[in-house]
Amino acid sequence: MPEVQNGSRGEGEIVINAIGPLGIFEDRKGVRTIFIIASLIILLAGGVTWFIFIESHLPPAERGRRLAEANGCFNCHGDGGLRGAPNPGRTDGSVPTFEGDLMMYAANSEEIRGWIRDGVPESRAKSKSWQKQRDSGVLVMPAFGDRLSDGEIDDLVAFVEAVHGEERPSDPLALAGYRRGKELGCFGCHGPGGRFARPNPGSLKGYIPWWGGRDFSDLVHSREEFDQWVEKGISDRFDGNPLARFFLGRALLEMPAYEDHLDPGDLDALWAYVGWLGAESASDR
Ligand code: HEC
Ligand code: HEC
Repeated sequence: MPEVQNGSRGEGEIVINAIGPLGIFEDRKGVRTIFIIASLIILLAGGVTWFIFIESHLPPAERGRRLAEANGCFNCHGDGGLRGAPNPGRTDGSVPTFEGDLMMYAANSEEIRGWIRDGVPESRAKSKSWQKQRDSGVLVMPAFGDRLSDGEIDDLVAFVEAVHGEERPSDPLALAGYRRGKELGCFGCHGPGGRFARPNPGSLKGYIPWWGGRDFSDLVHSREEFDQWVEKGISDRFDGNPLARFFLGRALLEMPAYEDHLDPGDLDALWAYVGWLGAESASDR
């Protein structure tokens, strides 16, 4: 008895017992049934490939953002780490933000890591004036080293640094791309520096893809496709794929078309910036 089984993959297991009853080959109707079943299998196989394709690859800053939310950081540092809560007793008056304030508290990634892991970086721990400040404020930075893994702390550092926004390209064209991205409002959806993957219910990956890593290389195969995304809000390759269009159409947020709002040279600059971001973040993954 012929039995057709499709392979199975993790959660979305797909098994088809397609041709059960005997006698299916007896007439032309049988041939048609087989044809229909074969088409179904091909479609399903396509679906499975698609499913693999849409696996998520969250960037470090986004993983950090989700960890920060889950670990109470925003209770003291404010939503997104942007508005510190009042901290009576201390001369700084409030919990520092991850944006501008950070400069006064941490000179580099290692010091940010020190704050999160140990509650204070080594460079400051022995300072008597700091100890006095810490003891006089109602809110004290907890040490997360016992609760979180090194990898999780790395993600939190990436998040804090992305919010701070100091990591920028030195190449003038790429820097111009960063500035235009900010001015055009790209970072509202793609997060500061295009480094985040905020939720987007109903969408392809469940979130807005960032501008680096696997997500970017899945969606953008060439400079030409990049220009299409930015100018038209979709690439020709995706526009021509019914399955892709289905997902894009379901999403809450869509990529806008910027065609009428770009200055000459914008695409070159934005492209240079995503190139820099890709190279810069390659070491994080
Ligand atoms: C109970 C309140 C509280 C919570 C919760 C908290 N912090 Fe803090 N954090 C502080 C205070 C207060 C300081 C200032 C420390 C000092 O000067 O002693 C600080 C300082 C920092 C700094 C350095 C200064 C700056 O610009 O922000 C970083 C980075 C930081 N915290 C990250 C985090 C992260 C990440 C989390 C969550 C995993 C977190 N904090 C949770 C209160 C808190
Ligand atoms: C309203 C939110 C929104 C804004 C603003 C926005 N995008 Fe997007 N962008 C999206 C969404 C959503 C997608 C993914 C397509 C989808 O899932 O529907 C996307 C996809 C992309 C892609 C495909 C590759 C990838 O990894 O992201 C590029 C490139 C891109 N956007 C660049 C830009 C640029 C450049 C700007 C600013 C000029 C910008 N976007 C502004 C929502 C936005």
